[in-house]
Amino acid sequence: MSTWANLGLQDSASPLMEQLIFFHDHALLILVMITVLVGYLMFMLFFNSYINRFLLHGQLIEMIWTILPAIILLFIALPSLRLLYLLDEINEPSVTLKSIGHQWYWSYEYSDFNNIEFDSYMIPTNELATDGFRLLDVDNRVILPMNSQIRILVTAADVIHSWTIPALGVKVDGTPGRLNQTNFFINRPGLFYGQCSEICGANHSFMPIVIESVPVNYFIKWISNNVNS
Ligand code: CUA
Repeated sequence: MSTWANLGLQDSASPLMEQLIFFHDHALLILVMITVLVGYLMFMLFFNSYINRFLLHGQLIEMIWTILPAIILLFIALPSLRLLYLLDEINEPSVTLKSIGHQWYWSYEYSDFNNIEFDSYMIPTNELATDGFRLLDVDNRVILPMNSQIRILVTAADVIHSWTIPALGVKVDGTPGRLNQTNFFINRPGLFYGQCSEICGANHSFMPIVIESVPVNYFIKWISNNVNS
């Protein structure tokens, strides 16, 4: 999770987030190169005393400075499209989780396993454990198996919410009357924190998401303990 002075992206916990970070760094590098070049050019213009009174047009240079930026943009556009389609790919998921946004909490359904369902509320500050994270911990965590392809279906019961977990590279809107789909693969155990990221009302800030990533045999144990309760 994000802690003090962590202003950049969180460490990735899924292959898709890793790709997103690579793309971010790639695009930023191109951006820095353009900014430095244009900044240098603009700065040097202040000291330029050469004047050409008869200059009206320059076909060649205009061709060059139109086509060159277009080619540079391709180096961002093509990897961006690759990532876009990669994010949309569903790779035979072994678990499906349904998350429903409410004002102001999430509820979850594991439809594969005799429909386990529960609500997940933020723990208020005055009830927080000493090692708890304020505004981030919930009473019922989402338990998911690591090293497995997971599909999530997101919807909402009242207004638009957004199921967002930065470390997994997941951000899906929950929209009333619709069912949105995405998928991810968690490649390590741990707790992954997220928040609603669609302005959904007065307590928008207080409907966090906590994913508890566990080994598959632990997950099966958890499922079998909960299936008939
Ligand atoms: Cu739900 Cu913001």
